[in-house]
Amino acid sequence: MKIADGIHWVGSGCAGLSAEGDCHVYLIEGRDALALVDCGKAKDPALILKNVREDGLDPARIRYCFLTHSHFDHAGGCESLRGMGVSIVGSPIADDILRAGARDYYRLDPEDPQLRPWCETPLSRVDVPVAHGQTFDLGGMKVQAFLTPGHSPDSVSFVLTRQSDGTRHAFTGDAVFYRGMISVLAPPFSDLIGFREGLSPLAGLDIQGLFPGHLMWVLKGGQRHIDIAREAFAHGQMPVQKPFS
Ligand SMILES: [Fe+2]
Repeated sequence: MKIADGIHWVGSGCAGLSAEGDCHVYLIEGRDALALVDCGKAKDPALILKNVREDGLDPARIRYCFLTHSHFDHAGGCESLRGMGVSIVGSPIADDILRAGARDYYRLDPEDPQLRPWCETPLSRVDVPVAHGQTFDLGGMKVQAFLTPGHSPDSVSFVLTRQSDGTRHAFTGDAVFYRGMISVLAPPFSDLIGFREGLSPLAGLDIQGLFPGHLMWVLKGGQRHIDIAREAFAHGQMPVQKPFS
């Protein structure tokens, strides 16, 4: 579903767009290439690719999957996409986690039903480990990676600059949500101390669209939502926690 010029919403479990448990999955449409942002929980991203086709776009043009972090609901389809020739772009830490598997990396108990989805995510890897500030040109759509740890050590936010009108749009994964909500998981997943500094690269960017991994996305005024969380931390307060979903 096209939701803005050059931005499509192609996956979401809660919205019924793709498999149950999938995070929001977006597609950036550049002149030269397409790029997914995250790939959901499902090992087989067929439903996501079907949505790409229904928007009149050819999945064979997908060059990158910009991975906001390696949590199971965002990264389950990585290995299938790699089999299609898609390069996974993400944090070097995500590379470590995907190679080791969350069970071994975080030392999780696979017998715990709550942790089973984490333990069952297929092993994979990051093809392009990003440096902070690294840019990618999709043709008229420039994407810049910012390391924004806190929710997870491997969280990356991708900021899209649409060159036709100069507007900026942020894909934040689980780093920050609508109304400045954040998602803090128990250690070892989240690092609360790191959160405040982790959001600082997103200051002052005049972000319009804010496209997180869950809950609502917004088309305009996204910077205000990011700043609500930043200002809470700056004043020694906890931002509001995102409800579990
Ligand atoms: Fe997450």
